[in-house]
Amino acid sequence: MRNRRVRKVKGVLWFVLGVTFVVACARFFSGLGTVTDLTDRTPWGLWIGFDVMAGVALAAGGFVLAALVYCFRQEKFRPLLRPAILTAFLGYVAVAVGLLFDLGRPWNIWRPMFFWQHHSVLFEVAWCVMLYTTVLALEFLPVPLEGSRFHGVARFLKRFSLPLVILGIMLSTLHQSSLGSLFLITPGRVHPLWYSPILPLLFFVSAVGLGLAMVTFESRATSWLYGKKSEDPLLISLMRPLAVVLLLYAGIRFVDLAARGVLPLAFEWTWESTLFWFEMVVSALLPAALILSGAAKKGGRALSWIAGLVVVGFVLHRIDTAGISGITRAGVRYFPSWEEIVTSMGVVSAAILAFLFFVERYRVYPPEEEPAEPAPLPPVRVRYRQFTAPLATARSSSLLFVIGAALAFALLPSGAVFGARLVETPVRGSRRVLARDGSGQELLLVDGNRANELTLFPHDEHVKRLGEKACAICHHMNRPGDRETSCYECHRDEYVATDLFRHEDHVRALGGNAGCAKCHADPSLAKSRGNATSCLECHEDMVAGGDLVPKPAADSAFFAPSYMQAMHGTCMACHEAEDEKNGEAVPKLALCGTCHPDPRDFEPTAARGRTQE
Ligand code: HEC
Ligand code: HEC
Ligand code: HEC
Ligand code: HEC
Ligand code: HEC
Ligand code: HEC
Repeated sequence: MRNRRVRKVKGVLWFVLGVTFVVACARFFSGLGTVTDLTDRTPWGLWIGFDVMAGVALAAGGFVLAALVYCFRQEKFRPLLRPAILTAFLGYVAVAVGLLFDLGRPWNIWRPMFFWQHHSVLFEVAWCVMLYTTVLALEFLPVPLEGSRFHGVARFLKRFSLPLVILGIMLSTLHQSSLGSLFLITPGRVHPLWYSPILPLLFFVSAVGLGLAMVTFESRATSWLYGKKSEDPLLISLMRPLAVVLLLYAGIRFVDLAARGVLPLAFEWTWESTLFWFEMVVSALLPAALILSGAAKKGGRALSWIAGLVVVGFVLHRIDTAGISGITRAGVRYFPSWEEIVTSMGVVSAAILAFLFFVERYRVYPPEEEPAEPAPLPPVRVRYRQFTAPLATARSSSLLFVIGAALAFALLPSGAVFGARLVETPVRGSRRVLARDGSGQELLLVDGNRANELTLFPHDEHVKRLGEKACAICHHMNRPGDRETSCYECHRDEYVATDLFRHEDHVRALGGNAGCAKCHADPSLAKSRGNATSCLECHEDMVAGGDLVPKPAADSAFFAPSYMQAMHGTCMACHEAEDEKNGEAVPKLALCGTCHPDPRDFEPTAARGRTQE
């Protein structure tokens, strides 16, 4: 019966892994765009929100227990240490794998090791992950080596366990909090109920609570799975500290919100405030109340419930901070594709399977006091059972793996199977529309690729503010003989750069064969852009020369960057500077939503009806 439970769980995990395997192939061979719903507006989705955040969260148990045993000398918790360290290690490996899926160019992941960028939070995060994963591997290595030929190595490593543990605690303290710092640099996206200058502290305190809960949950889960004696008495003694940490976390969070004057937002009953209360109740308030009411004293299921609530609640906190809370603010429209969801589940499944592998094969949990030796079975039968049981498991698991893979293959969109094609997205000009408020103000409806992700740009109001002569601030370049050429005439594609040079036009304009030497002055050189006469030499008049967009260099090839880049380069540069000048702590003019209203408000036909093209 026990055996069947293990086999069922493993079967499900292998099935998920089979689906993930095919999706992973599609992701790495055909690209991110074919299997995800990520876009330039939501470059971070479920994989970062869940895989990375949950991976690090799972890992929190490692450093919390290490600190309990080694720093606070609570020796009685030692039996829980090995599983906690193993989970931490697997959690971090899962983070690395999740990152590989998410990075646009995963083969560059080694770069932070050699190219140091001290000003980047991600640089610090990358180093913490690398170092801490190494430390955890060294901490755990003695367990599989113990009984093997290499037990000498195990003994050697064990001598360094104390310094390793201390290094591990330091690194993971740094890392848990620096994950919070990561979001300090995106104030424009994180909702004020989550954004806080003390995010690093909040991340750290919640990581401690999460760690305690994770250890409890894991111990209960393995007891259930293997029908092992549970460690309830030990786990019960973890509950009081857990309650203290949870209340501390809730206290800090509310005081911080109140001190920054955003607490009223929690009572406005918006979508975000509901999310906020749900998260607070699940992660901290309800579990703390349950513990204080004495529900945990009995042990058993109550422990699993409390720990489960804390884990779910804090993983939700990470996902909220990383994305969900920004949905309405940033005007984000994103829901993970089924491929993303399956891949996330697959990474977790692989980690659980690895965990079970180590638990079954090595002394991760201390051996139970043996009940009196069972009567020895006849030798032949013992060998028979040992031989078939794992084989049967292996056979049903691989069958489920293959079924999962086949199913995924059948469901994948054709782009993912046959490779994505570069889609050209030519842009068209803006249109004049009347403002909705009935003021009679004319706005420019800018929607280059007609994707309905539009901007209502108060062009004339900007001109009024900047002065009639200031056109060149934005209209930094014009076609020959023109003034204030519209941007779309040169920045011709929404996402990729445009080459402005047309050879045949120039041959015609410069007198056919007689004109070749005007550009290809030295016949011995290859006829390339670098060797030809610089565009500026004939087209000084094209450059209008504002100070917002830098003047092209003398050797510029006149490749006009994408329409989106042209817009952001112009609009954002000034809006950010304005915010800074006005001393805004949180972006206002530079907020995505300032220029990108919720696209659902604009039916394409309605917008077109008011056009005077
Ligand atoms: C100051 C104004 C402004 C701000 C602030 C701004 N954008 Fe834009 N953005 C534009 C304009 C103008 C366009 C061009 C509109 C178009 O072609 O549809 C654009 C285009 C885009 C596009 C391409 C639209 C499409 O149809 O595919 C994306 C994606 C985008 N912006 C994302 C963002 C994000 C994310 C932020 C916040 C970090 C942001 N923008 C902030 C002005 C702005
Ligand atoms: C803040 C930046 C900015 C300033 C300043 C500015 N423009 Fe523009 N202008 C734009 C953008 C962006 C567009 C839309 C281009 C597109 O659709 O590709 C535009 C479009 C135009 C258009 C064509 C669309 C239309 O029907 O209005 C004209 C004409 C124009 N600008 C003239 C001017 C003149 C003249 C001035 C100076 C008095 C000026 N602009 C100042 C950014 C600016
Ligand atoms: C005559 C063609 C032309 C027109 C019209 C034009 N641009 Fe450009 N733009 C260019 C070229 C070419 C470059 C690249 C210059 C270089 O190599 O330095 C450029 C570069 C830029 C850049 C710098 C982007 C970066 O990331 O380096 C911005 C921003 C920009 N344009 C915005 C605009 C806006 C806004 C408009 C309309 C108001 C506009 N441009 C109209 C040709 C044009
Ligand atoms: C206005 C300047 C200009 C004039 C006039 C001009 N060229 Fe070019 N030519 C260029 C540039 C710039 C390139 C590089 C094009 C590129 O990189 O896309 C080039 C490229 C070439 C190439 C290489 C094309 C390729 O596809 O690799 C040849 C061959 C060439 N030119 C021949 C000529 C001949 C013959 C004439 C006279 C009939 C001529 N060019 C007139 C600027 C000019
Ligand atoms: C030897 C002088 C000369 C050089 C060098 C030159 N052009 Fe031109 N270009 C001309 C002339 C002449 C015309 C056509 C007359 C006009 O409209 O002013 C022209 C027209 C253009 C036009 C408008 C017509 C069209 O083809 O769309 C663009 C854009 C342009 N050039 C871009 C470039 C770029 C980019 C370079 C550098 C790679 C370049 N030119 C180098 C002389 C030159
Ligand atoms: C040189 C500076 C500058 C540039 C460039 C600029 N803006 Fe602005 N913009 C401002 C300022 C300042 C305001 C604030 C006006 C106010 O407070 O009423 C503003 C306001 C706005 C608003 C109205 C915001 C609101 O809530 O009332 C929109 C929309 C906007 N800009 C879009 C754009 C777009 C799109 C571009 C690029 C095509 C752009 N801006 C380029 C300075 C600039």
